[in-house]
Amino acid sequence: MVRILLLTMLLLGFPAVVGFGGDGAEVFQTQKCTKCHSVEVASIPFNPGEPDEDDDEDEKEPVDLSKIGAAVDSSHIVAFLNRKEVSHDNGKKHKKKFKGTDEELQVVADWLASLK
Ligand code: HEC
Repeated sequence: MVRILLLTMLLLGFPAVVGFGGDGAEVFQTQKCTKCHSVEVASIPFNPGEPDEDDDEDEKEPVDLSKIGAAVDSSHIVAFLNRKEVSHDNGKKHKKKFKGTDEELQVVADWLASLK
């Protein structure tokens, strides 16, 4: 039983472990954060892709988050992505509310906070 459990964990965890930074980096990309951000230290490029209806065309300057953990911690990032907290940088709320699960939000926030 324990073995099956371990095997399942290994299989589920494996794709996340392969990339730099593990699942935080993966959530970042599947949640399309790359439409507005790059994370150069993790080799994640800016990737604006096709515009959405709610895209603000003026805001196409990519914001690199490579050192965001030096400025803010993960609880700030969670609150910021829920639009309950303003940016440390310009005092504005984030453009997009996070659309994934709370768990994914925590994972991506912890990962970003680790980038210093
Ligand atoms: C539509 C564009 C857009 C998308 C999509 C987007 N962001 Fe942002 N984000 C911004 C802009 C612009 C800033 C910098 C200035 C601001 O806060 O308005 C920013 C700032 C941030 C910051 C810095 C917070 C601070 O206090 O300075 C973090 C962390 C962040 N984004 C994470 C994310 C994550 C994670 C995702 C994906 C779930 C994401 N962003 C998706 C536009 C975007």
